[in-house]
Amino acid sequence: MTDSTKGWALITGASSGIGEAFARRLAAESHDLVIVARRLELLEKLAEELEGRHGVRVKVEPADLSSEADVERVVERVRETEPLSMLVNNAGFSTAARFVEADLESQLRMIRVHNLAAVRLVHAALPGMLARGRGSIINVSSMAGLVPAPYNAIYDATKAFLVLFSEGLHQELQGTGVRVQALCPGYTHTGFHAAIGVDRKIPEPFWLTPEEVVDASLSALEKGTVVCVPGWKQRLFASFLLSLPRPLRYRLVRLVER
Ligand SMILES: NC(=O)c1ccc[n+]([C@@H]2O[C@H](COP(=O)([O-])OP(=O)(O)OC[C@H]3O[C@@H](n4cnc5c(N)ncnc54)[C@H](OP(=O)(O)O)[C@@H]3O)[C@@H](O)[C@H]2O)c1
Repeated sequence: MTDSTKGWALITGASSGIGEAFARRLAAESHDLVIVARRLELLEKLAEELEGRHGVRVKVEPADLSSEADVERVVERVRETEPLSMLVNNAGFSTAARFVEADLESQLRMIRVHNLAAVRLVHAALPGMLARGRGSIINVSSMAGLVPAPYNAIYDATKAFLVLFSEGLHQELQGTGVRVQALCPGYTHTGFHAAIGVDRKIPEPFWLTPEEVVDASLSALEKGTVVCVPGWKQRLFASFLLSLPRPLRYRLVRLVER
């Protein structure tokens, strides 16, 4: 048992961006943390800072979630972490290419990181959460999981998987005290787009900060919102696109995602 009143939160992809923002916010709210990603030096630096600033415990678990052996280690970590109050499946990446021209291995790796790893971590986390009658699971999807676009077909499909997986789980878990959320951010200022060499020509008002995404996610969790799209403009835009007949929607999305 931990000294912390909030229990442990395990966050994947905590070395930068939205995952790092979750780590900072949850540590400030007195959660002990297990932080997972590949870049060990960034995780260690963050752990040292958060332990010093908030007096919480932060365990570092370096792992490549596309590797079977590494995922198995993180699964073990989930099983032995007591009490695990929150799991944030956030690790992810994108590529920008027509599917037929994309490196197939990178697309398969995306399915392993976004879907297979997330499914295995949720499966490992649920028994303890159900036994305690409380816990939260946040699967970081994307607006792209609601409104798919070209040059990102596998990314969008893996994110749609997370939305449907979360919605199905939510219904199965009614009355158990365990909450599930599919978090669907739109454009967010992190290293995510630069990593694939894409300079999005999206007007600044349509961008969010990682902190805004985390705020929206945690308040939606309190309200029991299952599919959370942070930002009112983003919610309006997603609803508008989804209301259009598909051919019209495809044309509009192609204009934005050129
Ligand atoms: N930024 C956006 O506009 C946006 C919009 C919608 C959804 N999202 C989603 O938000 C999540 C976080 O992305 P971000 O925007 O914060 O970008 P980011 O700063 O690039 O963060 C991605 C995180 O995922 C980790 N990661 C990537 N591949 C991994 C692997 N094989 N094994 C373990 N960890 C891995 C990275 O850590 P290491 O490199 O250290 O492994 C990093 O911590 C992703 O799932 C992304 O799809 C982002």
